[in-house]
Parts: sequence; C-alpha cells; structure tokens
Amino acid sequence: MPKKDFLQISDLSAAEAGELFELAAAMKSGDYRKKPLAGKTLAMVFAKSSTRTRVSFEVGAFQLGAHAIFLSAQDMQLGRGETIADTAMVLSRYVDGITIRTFAHSDVEELARKATIPVVNGLTDLVHPCQVLSDVFTVSESLGTWQGKVVAWVGDGNNMANSWLNAAALFGFELRIACPEGYEPDREIFERAKQATGVAIFEDPDEAVRDAHVVNTDVWASMGQEADAKARRLAFKGYTVDSDLMKLAAPDAIFLHCLPAHRGEEVASEVIDGPQSRVWDQAENRLHVQKALLATLMS
Ligand code: CP
Ligand code: NVA
Repeated sequence: MPKKDFLQISDLSAAEAGELFELAAAMKSGDYRKKPLAGKTLAMVFAKSSTRTRVSFEVGAFQLGAHAIFLSAQDMQLGRGETIADTAMVLSRYVDGITIRTFAHSDVEELARKATIPVVNGLTDLVHPCQVLSDVFTVSESLGTWQGKVVAWVGDGNNMANSWLNAAALFGFELRIACPEGYEPDREIFERAKQATGVAIFEDPDEAVRDAHVVNTDVWASMGQEADAKARRLAFKGYTVDSDLMKLAAPDAIFLHCLPAHRGEEVASEVIDGPQSRVWDQAENRLHVQKALLATLMS
C-alpha cells in the first residue's frame, strides 16, 4: 500500500475523517488500549515554537507504543542549509513517521514527496490541519454533530482560517469569516471551499456571528509575523470576541480558540474563561485525534 500523508484536511475523505473520529473517541474513552506503534519511532521537526502540538504528539506516540524524537530545525543540519529532500531521505532510513511544523507549506510538500514514510503537517503559514480536524471533533462532542451548524471565524484570515475553510468543504457545514480588508484567507482555498459549501467573508463581526453555533478566533499576529504585531493590533480593532459579540450567537453557542491566546486582544477574558468556552477540551482533543491519525498512518 502506498504511504499516506496528512498535509491538509483535504487529504482525507469524509468517510476517513469519520473513522478517525470513531477511533479518537474510543481512545479518549479509555476503551482502546492497543500499542499499534510498538517498536516504531516518530521524528518531530519543529522550526517554530509549540506547546500543544509538541506535547500531544510526543505523549500520543508514547501511548501508542512508539518513541518520539523532538528535533529543533535550527539544531538540525537543516538549519545550516541541508536540503529538505536530503533530510527526508535520511529520516526515512531511521524512523517510521515525521511530523513537521515550519513556515513555507511548500517545504512540507517537498518533505512528503521525498520521504518514503508518512508525513504529518503540524502547522505551516498556510494551514493547521491537525488543529482544525480535532476542532471539528470538539464541535461534534459539544454539540452532538457538525451537520447543520454554522461556524463563525472572527479575526485574521490565517492558517487556522484556511484550515476551517478546508474543513467546511469536507464536512459540509456553513462557515462565515469576519476579517478586516487585506486580511482575508487564501483565495484559492476560499474559492475551492465555495464550490463545496456555504462560505462567506464579512467585514462586520456581528454579521458573521449572528446565530452561529461556534465562534472561533485566533491571534492577530501569527508566528513569523511578530514585526507586524503593532500594525495588526490597529487593523483588528473591533474584532475582539467579547461577551457582547457572543450574545449575538445562538444561545448554546460554544467558543473555540486553538491557543495560545492574548486576552484583551482577539478574545476577552470573560469569554475564553467563561461558560461557553471549550478551549481546554479543544486542547485535550488534539491528543486523541492525533493518536487516531498516527495509529492509522503509521501502523
Ligand atoms: N494550538 C497549537 O498548535 O498550539 P502550539 O503552538 O502550542 O502547538
Ligand atoms: N495562527 C497561529 C496558530 C498557533 C497555533 C500561528 O500560526 O502562530
């Protein structure tokens, strides 16, 4: 069987995603106790900071019987100019799977092309598929289903917003994005999602959030955009998810944030620390969904 990578949510069919969620739920409940990755090794290459992705992959690999090696890209020969292709071919001779977090999405595509083992995207400037896949699992866990639900995205049209567009296309829910002009999501991803489901971009957060079942945001300056943070704080004025905005959503709406968060910027403390917030379940579910993904791709 050819190896399978997970670089974007669109790499999965709806049926495959459903199977992953079933497996993740069994893993979360404690019913699943197998070690399908016993004796295997996962290389985890990080060119950007991480708390959740690094820890959830490392713990997940361990729980499935595998050993995980954390590799800071700066400390690898990659950081001194060794090519992605050579790195892919060498790692493929030692380990059984690679997760990578880096800047250019094309680097992850190159790694996956050259590696003979599964590659999992742990975030690029373009997308964050592991996060949003597990966020859809969280939606289904909290609201019973994603079918017929309206998801609102408020803030930057960044890697998370792009992955939500891919998820809307795969799962068929409605996605409304509110962002300032100039901060829209990737055009190609948006157009592709539009062919598949109801997606729309608004400038006014109220319009996106009205009657939504899920309200979602993320930092205004992503990793790599630190120099731009001040200008972005100005551009995103009025895009804070606060309790007034949440009041426009459906009464039982949930709030999601992939974390790390900046309270007082993209989200008010009263929302992220309030009763509608599901951010801790959301962080926990990274572990269960990624375990299902690793068990499926690597065994
Ligand atoms: N949400 C997320 O990916 O967090 P980390 O950057 O801490 O991995
Ligand atoms: N958009 C954020 C997500 C962090 C998990 C970033 O890329 O920094």
